[in-house]
Amino acid sequence: MTKAIIIKKPGGPEVLELTDIQLASPGPDQIKVKNIAIGLNYIDTYHRSGLYPVPLPSGIGLEGAGVITEIGSNVGELSVGDNVAYAGGSPNAYAEERILPAQIAVKIPDGISHKIAACIMTKGLTTHYLLCKTYKLNSNDVVLFHAAAGGVGQVFSQWAKAIGCELIGTVGSDEKIDIAKKNGCDHVVNYTKQDFAKEVKDITKGAGVSVVYDGVGKNTFQGSVECLKPRGTMVSFGNASGPLDPLNVPKDIQSKSLFFTRPTMKDYYAKRNEVVEGANKLFEQIKFGKIKIKIFKEYSLEEVKQAHLDLESRKINGPAIFVV
Ligand SMILES: NC(=O)c1ccc[n+]([C@@H]2O[C@H](COP(=O)([O-])OP(=O)(O)OC[C@H]3O[C@@H](n4cnc5c(N)ncnc54)[C@H](OP(=O)(O)O)[C@@H]3O)[C@@H](O)[C@H]2O)c1
Repeated sequence: MTKAIIIKKPGGPEVLELTDIQLASPGPDQIKVKNIAIGLNYIDTYHRSGLYPVPLPSGIGLEGAGVITEIGSNVGELSVGDNVAYAGGSPNAYAEERILPAQIAVKIPDGISHKIAACIMTKGLTTHYLLCKTYKLNSNDVVLFHAAAGGVGQVFSQWAKAIGCELIGTVGSDEKIDIAKKNGCDHVVNYTKQDFAKEVKDITKGAGVSVVYDGVGKNTFQGSVECLKPRGTMVSFGNASGPLDPLNVPKDIQSKSLFFTRPTMKDYYAKRNEVVEGANKLFEQIKFGKIKIKIFKEYSLEEVKQAHLDLESRKINGPAIFVV
């Protein structure tokens, strides 16, 4: 038996149950991993609440790091005993041990701990595709990133800074201003106190930004569109404040010839070579000190309800993990 967090119905943090489950052996293309650390991500709250429905009963959690304890008959690249990290697949990461597709696991390079690897895969691979693939950032770009002191926000800010662009970050409290600045934001706006669209207009002297990365969603969409220069790119990649209202194409997009995209990890990392490329680029950034990860908080699996409460009440200022 192994301990895992299971949800039987959608709802608040109270639906998260620590349960004993029996794991089968991995299928031909799968591996079994004993988790050492597990990443906490905002998307986990969407799976729990039903905003992103999952077949129930379900596990929860998308990323983790640990040691391979068993491999399927078709698995060639990985072996029992390898230290691996993974992101994606079905949500089953909040568990002592789990089964996952070998395709989404990568070996953890020397010098990177399980704890760091566990919390970096989703945030780091997301950042990689957002700034290298969805919109290729370069040093001439002026960029707006919402919730810059959050999990993805801290990784994105450091990577964008390494590219050399001018970065404007928004945050939800004054204590997060310093965090966003330390991670590389050139300008930080507290959007709970200031009109961020007006601030961005002032910062850019009326020109606007070339791209907005918006993981906040409902509350920031209209302001984000206002911040873009003509032919700018609106990257809507999450909905921490709630899902977007339907797009009004003539008003929101056509008025400035904007590009709009709603990207997801699964489409950017559908193939093994894409996972390996993204992970290598990410590990390189860490190895060369361009991205430094400071874990904000560690929880046990028993504290899962509190972890979700903290995340949804905007109290988690950076990457957080469960330690098994
Ligand atoms: N599309 C993809 O492939 C992909 C992959 C990973 C993550 N994401 C998305 O990226 C976003 C960030 O993910 P994360 O895991 O790093 O989370 P996070 O940024 O650590 O947490 C979410 C942040 O959103 C901000 N926020 C604004 N309004 C909020 C509200 N009404 N309720 C709660 N939070 C609110 C808060 O920061 P402030 O207090 O500073 O406002 C909060 O800390 C999420 O929307 C997530 O779904 C998308």
